[in-house]
Amino acid sequence: ADIRKRDAVVKAFQHAWSAYEQDAFGADEYHPISHRGSNLTTSTSPSGVRTSRGIGYTIIDALDTMLLMGEPLAPQYEKAKAWVKRELPRGWMRVGSVSTFETTIRTLGGLLSAYHLSQDPMFLERAAELGARLLPAFGEGLWAPAQKPNRRMRTDTSIAEAATLQLEFRYLAHALREWNDKEFWYKAEHVMRVLNQERLESGLAPHKLNTTDGSFLWSSVRMGSSGDSYFEYLLKQYIQTNRTESVYLQMYTDAMRGVQEHMVQRSPWKGHTYITELVPVPGRDDWTGAKQDHLACFLAGSLMLGATRNLQHLRASVPPQQTELTAEGRRDWKVGLALLEGCMDTTKTLTGLAPESVWWRADDQQALPDEPGQQWDWYIMGASKFWPPYDARYILRPEIAESVFLAWRLTGARRYRTYAWNIFTAIEMYCRLPEGGYATVMDVDNLPVKYEDKQETFFLSETLKYLYLTFADENVLDLNEVVFNTEAHPLPIFTPTIKPRFTEYSTLKPAPGT
Ligand SMILES: *[C@@H]1O[C@H](CO)[C@@H](O)[C@H](O)[C@H]1NC(C)=O
Ligand SMILES: *[C@@H]1O[C@H](CO)[C@@H](O)[C@H](O)[C@H]1NC(C)=O
Ligand SMILES: *[C@@H]1O[C@H](CO)[C@@H](O)[C@H](O)[C@H]1NC(C)=O
Repeated sequence: ADIRKRDAVVKAFQHAWSAYEQDAFGADEYHPISHRGSNLTTSTSPSGVRTSRGIGYTIIDALDTMLLMGEPLAPQYEKAKAWVKRELPRGWMRVGSVSTFETTIRTLGGLLSAYHLSQDPMFLERAAELGARLLPAFGEGLWAPAQKPNRRMRTDTSIAEAATLQLEFRYLAHALREWNDKEFWYKAEHVMRVLNQERLESGLAPHKLNTTDGSFLWSSVRMGSSGDSYFEYLLKQYIQTNRTESVYLQMYTDAMRGVQEHMVQRSPWKGHTYITELVPVPGRDDWTGAKQDHLACFLAGSLMLGATRNLQHLRASVPPQQTELTAEGRRDWKVGLALLEGCMDTTKTLTGLAPESVWWRADDQQALPDEPGQQWDWYIMGASKFWPPYDARYILRPEIAESVFLAWRLTGARRYRTYAWNIFTAIEMYCRLPEGGYATVMDVDNLPVKYEDKQETFFLSETLKYLYLTFADENVLDLNEVVFNTEAHPLPIFTPTIKPRFTEYSTLKPAPGT
């Protein structure tokens, strides 16, 4: 471990948590500038009084980070645990309408990882209660889960929302196996069978899906918002069940072939590798849109992880020997390393924070280096000195730190600790509020910084966890023993005792419009 840096991250966690605890304990979300909390759900009593109760977003998202940090966070953890035990069920009784996806990845994932790390059965009990409340989302007559369990009006959903529930529901079923409750497993698994049948010839998948019949809607292919974690969970479902379900490896391998052929590009000046979106334009073959979300930077680490797990029996060395990797693995490893350099280039702003999205320039575009947010290779769309666009923000996102952590664990190269430290010091310098908490920065390329009044829950569950783990001993959460859900909640790798029903790989469909 690098104890000094690791402990600096623990101090940051304490600074973020204690502000929340003091101002808004029990609330779902925290607003550190106005020192208040807010909840995601409200209900109106018969006499017309609107009340809201937290369903644990911030508390549950932070539990496993506190467990990992150990002694310095022990009193905070005990208080959070007591809240989950006593107050959480009262919140659930009032719940109006929640997002299936966000509730699964943040709170179901958080309860399950707290259970895994503490072995306290209370967390599993809460997870089972929540799972049962979410099950109606996989309702009769639907091919993909609805965005909200109790509201099925909308007929479309995103592929990330439909296919980022599987690690959580499968582990829940596995942990409850004494009760022989397989419904959680099979409901989540069924979605994967539908998506397997729908995939395109390229191995890729558009980001919009019709929940009624499971078909894809005409829409872009994205490694950023609404698409990202579908691709992430193809690999992670394979890892989760100890590499026993080869159907996920096949789907993942096909998808990454499509990514490599169609979505990976190089910038004309510095030769950085980046990832595009594929935006369908009627009547044109050219689908490229050079927008890269901060979210898409998860792919760098994911490609490296996939390269070292794409082997049936061997455990790869650190760093892997080229001879230990398959041909696809060698390609993915190289591109993963390069993508991470491209993502780190987007931290070259006045604050050292990476923006929400950048656009990479094609070589026929003139660079405008004297405007704010303008670099040679990429720029922030709509950047202006007067009003920052949405793309210019840093909302305390984790994806670059996540890929840096994976690169550190898989290579052992010290430069990644330097990257992590640079990310951390930029956050300390520009997002930390002296009175307590951390806030969204409105424009990463304008000084002095302006804030938005929000501390996202994933700052506690993901960003600070990945930074902490990069400086901790590497046997803390060994990548051979756990798999992280998309909210950075570590779940154990296990050999399944429930018999998978989705095992058959289907042939691919021609692209839409052809
Ligand atoms: C949010 O929920 C918590 C816990 O149930 C409650 O204590 C708090 O008053 C609620 N906050 C608001 C702003 O309604
Ligand atoms: C989804 O599929 C159903 C059944 O095929 C169809 O009636 C509906 O119009 C479709 N929705 C969209 C948004 O395409
Ligand atoms: C995973 O599989 C390997 C061999 O196939 C076995 O030795 C190992 O114990 C399994 N791990 C788990 C967690 O089941």
